[in-house]
Amino acid sequence: RMSAFWRGTMAVSIKSAREIELMREAGKRLAHVHQELEAMIAPGISTWEIDAKGEKLIRDCGCIPNFLHYNGYPASICVSVNDEVVHGIPNKHRILQEGDIVSLDAGVIYKGYHSDAARTYGVGTIDSESVQLIEVTKQSFFEGLAQCRAGNHINDISKAVFGYVTKRGYSAVRDLVGHGVGAHLHEEPNVPNYPKLFKGPKLKPGMVIAIEPMINIGSYQVGWLNDDWTVVTMDGSRSAHYENTVLITEGDPEILSRAEGLEL
Ligand code: MF3
Ligand code: CO
Repeated sequence: RMSAFWRGTMAVSIKSAREIELMREAGKRLAHVHQELEAMIAPGISTWEIDAKGEKLIRDCGCIPNFLHYNGYPASICVSVNDEVVHGIPNKHRILQEGDIVSLDAGVIYKGYHSDAARTYGVGTIDSESVQLIEVTKQSFFEGLAQCRAGNHINDISKAVFGYVTKRGYSAVRDLVGHGVGAHLHEEPNVPNYPKLFKGPKLKPGMVIAIEPMINIGSYQVGWLNDDWTVVTMDGSRSAHYENTVLITEGDPEILSRAEGLEL
């Protein structure tokens, strides 16, 4: 979601056992959607076809696509190619080419509860620079995840993601951030991918957050295309995105949008 200042006084919701069970189910179904979509990625398919299949998969598993019509967004899946960071709008004329990288961001609502996850894939054979970008972006999520312990603060996640990618020469997008998830797609708190002066809310068992590093090869700066949605890197460098919906527990965090055996 769009970045905003900390609103430290706003409460971060704590999910009940029943809500957590529904969010597990939402996440499991979303993981399945991603797994099916990954199998489609190949040179020659349009970003529109990915969205059409994605919407069908979401509805067929008893969910509602939460991105569709969200603030006027016209599709169910955000499909962002190469220098597009996030929120790419699917288009019949946008055909994936060998060597492209493509990020798929998808979300579902199951019995009133949301889940949100994104993956970035190579189309056919991609250059080693792109392979590394995708891997560093995914690993930065896991660095953030390792900080998801009750008693830590949101800023610990932000610092871990930022530190990991910066050390390797990549940059973390600042104008968009992760977020709380629950009965709404976007809840408190913001989960930035760069450190802040304030440590942010303290993590407590029952909080659910989407951690979503958006990582560029070049500068962190991004701009918006005239379609009012597509976010692109200002320098034209490639960008990758990896996101999961994560439950804070008494112990290890639980990735809700990454079902057992589905190792994307
Ligand atoms: N994961 C994206 C986000 O948190 C989902 C955007 S939904 C859209 O911002 F509908 F706005 F595209
Ligand atoms: Co999100």
